[in-house]
Amino acid sequence: MNKTVYLDYSATTPQAPEVTEAISRWNREVFGNPSSQHSFGRAAKARIEEARDHLADHTGFLPKEIAFTSGGTESNNWALVGTVRAHRNKTMHIIVSAVEHPSLLKTAEYLQTVGYEVSYAQPTADGVVTAEEIARLIKKNTVLVSVMHVNNETGVINPVEEIGRLCRERGILFHCDAVQSFGKTGLKLNETGAGLITLSAHKIYGPKGCGALIIREGTALEPLLHGGGQEAGRRPGTENINGIIGFDAALALLNAEKDYSTVKKLQHYFERELSERFPFCRINGAAAARSPFISNVSFPGVDNESLLINLDLSGIAVSVGSACSSGSVRPSHVLQAMGLPAGLVNSTVRFSFGRHTTRDQLEYTLEKLKEILPRLRKKRS
Ligand SMILES: Cc1ncc(COP(=O)(O)O)c(C=O)c1O
Repeated sequence: MNKTVYLDYSATTPQAPEVTEAISRWNREVFGNPSSQHSFGRAAKARIEEARDHLADHTGFLPKEIAFTSGGTESNNWALVGTVRAHRNKTMHIIVSAVEHPSLLKTAEYLQTVGYEVSYAQPTADGVVTAEEIARLIKKNTVLVSVMHVNNETGVINPVEEIGRLCRERGILFHCDAVQSFGKTGLKLNETGAGLITLSAHKIYGPKGCGALIIREGTALEPLLHGGGQEAGRRPGTENINGIIGFDAALALLNAEKDYSTVKKLQHYFERELSERFPFCRINGAAAARSPFISNVSFPGVDNESLLINLDLSGIAVSVGSACSSGSVRPSHVLQAMGLPAGLVNSTVRFSFGRHTTRDQLEYTLEKLKEILPRLRKKRS
């Protein structure tokens, strides 16, 4: 009998029951518009400020440095577009890494089409964006460097503290997309030196459609939206209070240290067994510091979309390439930037783990791979 095994926690995590309950309790009791002056409005506003205080405490920033957004995509767009608008200097140059999430890369490409100069920092063969590579690209007119902490496809960890230090020394604003590491690694966000940091709630068992941009005091950033005073006038529009309450409830449940050590053991087991049972497979980024929540694996001679479908038929959910919003898949720009040949890029799947992953589930996945891989390899040859 098929089991159901979810190994796509980097795409999203299941919303925790406590989060669902916190949101519905709120809606049963109070539902005010935080901008209203009566008691319903004041209660809603107070609840948002409470959530902001918690997130500020957790990240080591001040409450006024936290702006709630609709998630990682909006925060990444805002970081780039808001920065260049704040500088109003057409000759400015920005640096982004070539392995960023599409919400960052596509924004950089858009800025290029309207006249800004963008350089793309290339990763090493193991997928690491080094401070040396950033230093090589810095110019006199560089105003912003954007490098993610944990890569969402490979789990490779970038040396963001070092990059942050470099940027600070050169007087350049540093933006860090911490969506895949927030609540999962011990990184102290306020020690990265980043002036802007992107977070998303649905990667930590919170609701979809909510996140934050941390804006360090003194950072020049124009709003993307206009027409209201919410979020200190920086992000107008009636707040997503369900999302914010859910984000807050998810934050309260975080136990990063425990999750990290449990998942690390599981990843170690899974990767060791993969290498023993399928010696032809290749774990990408293996030599780099990596998050235990992601294993990016190439199975030479196997079409990754066929593998995904076959695993799905066995009840196992994984992902391939850079899934875009339409559900279609493009070959991974991350693996391409790491120099993997096209054949290997199209033979690669991402397994990602989380709070509910068990050794049993991984054993089941390994057994299913044993059935599926020989079939698919034969088909190709
Ligand atoms: C590294 C990274 N940045 C940004 C995002 C976008 O976040 P959201 O889904 O909240 O828009 C994701 C989501 O997959 C991500 O993995």
